[in-house]
Amino acid sequence: MKNILVLGASGQIGSELVGELRKIYGDSHVVGGDINLNVSCELKESGPYEYLDIRDTEKIVTVIKKYNIDTIYNLVALLSAVGEQKPQFAWEINIGGLMNTLEIAREHKCAVFTPSSIGAFGPSTPPDHTPQDTIMRPTTIYGISKVAGELLSDYYYLKYGVDTRSVRFPGLISYKTLPGGGTTDYAVEIFYEAIKAKKYTCPLPGGTFLDMMYMPDAVKAAIEIMEADPSALKHRNSFNVTAMSFDPEILAAEIKKHIPGFTLSYDINPTLVKIANSWPNSMDDSCARNEWGWKPDYTLADMTSDMLDKLKEKLK
Ligand code: SER
Repeated sequence: MKNILVLGASGQIGSELVGELRKIYGDSHVVGGDINLNVSCELKESGPYEYLDIRDTEKIVTVIKKYNIDTIYNLVALLSAVGEQKPQFAWEINIGGLMNTLEIAREHKCAVFTPSSIGAFGPSTPPDHTPQDTIMRPTTIYGISKVAGELLSDYYYLKYGVDTRSVRFPGLISYKTLPGGGTTDYAVEIFYEAIKAKKYTCPLPGGTFLDMMYMPDAVKAAIEIMEADPSALKHRNSFNVTAMSFDPEILAAEIKKHIPGFTLSYDINPTLVKIANSWPNSMDDSCARNEWGWKPDYTLADMTSDMLDKLKEKLK
C-alpha cells in the first residue's frame, strides 16, 4: 500500500487529486499538505492534513517520517501569467521547491510526480502535433522552470535512481477550485460567466488554439503514470498528454448548445496572447498512449456538458 504526500493539496489539481487518491489508497494513506490556511473541510476531515511550506525542508521531512511516506505529488507552482509578474519568486517556488522535494525523495526513498506543462514549449517548437521530443525553448519563467524541472527530475532518476515521473498538462478545466493565474484560465472563467451572465469577455482572440483537458482526466493521468510499469517507460520527465484542442470560438459554440443566448466578446490581453502564441496548438501524445496506455475519457462535448451541470449546482 502506498503512503502518499500531496504538496499543494488545496490548489486546482490537488483539491481533486487528493479525493481520488484517498478513494484508491485509503483515506489515512494520503496526506494533504499546503501553505494555504483556508483549505476546505473536506480536505482536512477526510484524511490527514498538514500545514506545509514547500521551502520548509525540515517540516516536510517530519511529515514524511510521521506518515512513512513513499510517494510525493509535488503540485506546488506559480502559473504562467502570475509568474511573469514575479519571476524571481516563481523560480524560488517552482524550482527551489522541486529541488527540496527531490532531495527529500532521494534521502527518504520516495517516488515523485511533478506536473510539467504545455508551457515548457516555446515559439520555436513545432506548433501542430507537437512531438514528445522536440525543441523546447520557452520564453516565460514558468516554462523555463518546467523545462528545468523536467531535466532535474530526469537527473535525479539517472544519477540517484529516484523514481521521478511527470506529464505535460495542457490547460486544465475544473469546477471545484479555480486555477491561479494561468494563460489558459479563460477556459474555466467562461463557464462561470456563461451561467452567471450568459456572456463572456475573452482575453485571447479567436483562432488561439491550445490543448485542454477536463480535470477527471488530469487526475487519471497523474495516478496512472505513477502506477505504470517502469520497464515499459522509455520517457519519464515528461510525457505529452492531451484530450482536446480548441480556440475560444469553438468553446463558445459548444457552450451555446446548452445556453442558446450566450455571447462571446473580446478584450484582448497582449501579455496573455504572447504567452498563448508561444505554446503548441495541439500536442502529439502518442508516447504516453504507447508507453503507459494513456487515453482521455472526456471530449469537448462531454466536458462542456458536465462542467455546466456541476457548476450550475455549485452556483445555486
Ligand atoms: N494552465 C497553465 C497556465 O496557463 C499551463 O500549464 O499557466
